[in-house]
Amino acid sequence: MKRIILLFFVFAVVGSLHSSALVNVYGRDYKLLNGRWDAIVDLYDQGERMKIFENRAPEGNTDFYEYSFDGGLRLEVPGDWNSQSPELKYYEGTVWYGRHFDADPTPGEREFLYFGAVSYRCNVYLNGKLIGSHEGGFTPFEIDVTDYLKKGDNFLAVEVNNRRTVDAIPALAFDWWNYGGITRDVMLVTVPDNHIADYFIQLDKSAADKINVDVKMSQPVAGVKVSVEIPGLKKKFEAVTDNLGRVSGTIKSKDLKRWAPDAPVLYDVTVKGGDDTVEERIGFRNIEVDGTKILINGEPQFMRCVSFHEEIPQRMGRAFSRADATMLLNEAKDLGVNMIRLAHYPQNEYTVRMAEEMGIVLWQEIPIWQGIDFTDDNTRAKAQNMLAEMINRDKNRCAVGFWGVANETKPSEARNDFLKSLLETGKSIDTTRLYVAAFDLVEFDKDRRVFTMNDSFTDNLDVVAVNKYMGWYHPWPLSPAESVWDVNPDKPLIISEFGGEALYGQSGSRDVVSSWSEDSQARLYEDNLRMMENIPNLAGVSPWILFDFRSPFRFHPTNQEGWNRKGLVSDRGQRKKAWYIMRDFYQKKRNNQ
Ligand code: GCU
Repeated sequence: MKRIILLFFVFAVVGSLHSSALVNVYGRDYKLLNGRWDAIVDLYDQGERMKIFENRAPEGNTDFYEYSFDGGLRLEVPGDWNSQSPELKYYEGTVWYGRHFDADPTPGEREFLYFGAVSYRCNVYLNGKLIGSHEGGFTPFEIDVTDYLKKGDNFLAVEVNNRRTVDAIPALAFDWWNYGGITRDVMLVTVPDNHIADYFIQLDKSAADKINVDVKMSQPVAGVKVSVEIPGLKKKFEAVTDNLGRVSGTIKSKDLKRWAPDAPVLYDVTVKGGDDTVEERIGFRNIEVDGTKILINGEPQFMRCVSFHEEIPQRMGRAFSRADATMLLNEAKDLGVNMIRLAHYPQNEYTVRMAEEMGIVLWQEIPIWQGIDFTDDNTRAKAQNMLAEMINRDKNRCAVGFWGVANETKPSEARNDFLKSLLETGKSIDTTRLYVAAFDLVEFDKDRRVFTMNDSFTDNLDVVAVNKYMGWYHPWPLSPAESVWDVNPDKPLIISEFGGEALYGQSGSRDVVSSWSEDSQARLYEDNLRMMENIPNLAGVSPWILFDFRSPFRFHPTNQEGWNRKGLVSDRGQRKKAWYIMRDFYQKKRNNQ
């Protein structure tokens, strides 16, 4: 598999040049390639040697092939393979997906194969030819297949590999299930030869009535007519491209209603460029920091947050659909949140767009999650590419307020350099949002008798976030009421993770965490919320986590059984006692807002 990994990386970098070749595919003309695909499990990575992507069938009396895509395993696309076959529950390795599809290419148009996500790396073959590769399990990529597509029948093979490696992102060990597969939508997208390759249409960071418009065509050709129309504002911006194929400008409107959690106003936007048209729904809002406050549209907002993994626990599978997004988001909304930290990686577009329609602010991050080799230049390039792919996909989504660049990293020069390069990459694309990272470095200072943190990297961030498991991983050094924090007092601080485990329905002593009881979890929540009253720059709270989730290193045979039980809701959708404590806390916060 070594050669393949190198190949993945090469394309991944090249791929980023195309990361904005197709912004907002859902607003375009596409053929959905979802459904049951043929599959071959290739545990020893022999498929390339055997050229199974050529999908040959024996012709004469003497030839034969030791594979066939027909008549064997079939896997749903989108979807992880782990939840589709008991034998694949723990599988880490290569699975080949294959399917036929008809095409009818038109001269003067370009055809792209678009993948919403493939976990974790893949090679893509069309009609027997390698046409592209990608690394990164949570961001979209597309391949221009115009020159490879045949009229009529085409055979598409995708070699997917989810093996963990030290230079991957995430790396060798992470606290969620290593789902593998073509885990999001696949489409064949048809666009004009010179098409809208990218656009960024967002409210100016420091104005309430000025929309900045940037549109880039795929070809560096001057004189192409571009328009951005917002019927709801009775506004239409028109311009012609420069010799880079770009237009920039502004739309001013005193009538603009800004998007906000309690009023998630979205406008229909039509972007036209040459013969291309893309339909969008875009919201316009301001988000900024003022001292220790987070302001949305100039008003201080306390971020009532919760996290969830991209997983449907009842199905024991990765979430991928509108129905999945509805389930997860409605459970979060019932808790009373105005924000969700999509842990620990970019989640699917249905979740992002539906959160936007529901008025939920989003923190999106790439999975720089413990164990990353910050000295490896390849890893750094991959992280930059992954961040760019995430931001390019969602930079027009006003619900996204925060870009997260890391979770629980340890201070070092290499880490600081690595994360600074991520901030530079992010800000080269988007300076309108807040940059954040979560740290688990808060310690109790026995001399000063306060909780403090010493990590100079926080100076580079707009908002500092802290994961702290008081009463679970850390016994209380003094009572919650006496627990005062002095952490980055001049910046907004979000408690991005706290909590403890409980098995739904299990009762026990409030004082004994090993009881894994709802009672001890409830006590832990009461104590932590009491402590948070002593954090002067607290700007938000995010319990870890909304649902119990699957993790290969949660071994306890009766309390965990391969599940991390920190959920406020069980893996079967049952709310634990702590859920009601958080719901009441958020109700009070909202009433006092
Ligand atoms: C960490 C980490 C989470 C993990 C959690 C836990 O803070 O960020 O991804 O699941 O702790 O230990 O449950």
